[in-house]
Amino acid sequence: MRNMEQQKRNAAEAAINYIQFGDVVGVGTGSTVRYFIESLAQVKGRIDGAVASSVATENLLKKHGIPVLDLNRTGKLPLYVDGADEATLNKHLIKGGGGALTREKIIAAASEKFCCIVDRSKIVDVLGEFPLPVEVIPMAQSFVSREIIGMAGLPELRANFATDNGNIIVDVRNLDLVNAVEVEDRLNSIPGVVTNGIFARRPADFLLIGDDNKVEIV
Ligand code: 5RP
Repeated sequence: MRNMEQQKRNAAEAAINYIQFGDVVGVGTGSTVRYFIESLAQVKGRIDGAVASSVATENLLKKHGIPVLDLNRTGKLPLYVDGADEATLNKHLIKGGGGALTREKIIAAASEKFCCIVDRSKIVDVLGEFPLPVEVIPMAQSFVSREIIGMAGLPELRANFATDNGNIIVDVRNLDLVNAVEVEDRLNSIPGVVTNGIFARRPADFLLIGDDNKVEIV
């Protein structure tokens, strides 16, 4: 039987090899990233600090004694490490299962290299089985949902959830994501949408896919 936790850990540990002395590292959110933070803590003397994509990650970094820096003060980051809910071999992603998609997208855009760490179960031929998270300004929930239905999507409000930015998440099923860049842009053009969890316009630069005993680099 495949060991998903071991796969996540293997991918996360492999990402440490891409850190250079003196880097400020962008750090994503989620269970795979938690393994990465544990590994990062072992080499924290090598880095100048980290930029966190969520309050949860910020707290975890601080707990491990890793300095957390403000993206407004760091300039472009050499490396961003984050997980994904789905990834294709051309490095398009769905992210936002943990609701941190907006800050994740900002840090990905502000980084030279985006290293995506995933277990094997995340690899898909076409994005879209995982419900697509869309961060929405609360007053726009109904309007945005109607627009999404107009695109043949099936939106569902994520219950009892607020993002770190004080917004809601609408999870969307049934969208055709074969042309991921087009759908990413179209959703982002709806007033009230903060951003959506398709990472195709700024995809990952490389994937580290954890298997039980090895890591594949794509
Ligand atoms: C959080 C994310 C995560 O990267 C994604 O949900 C994957 O999480 P995990 O590593 O727990 O499977 O996008 O917003």
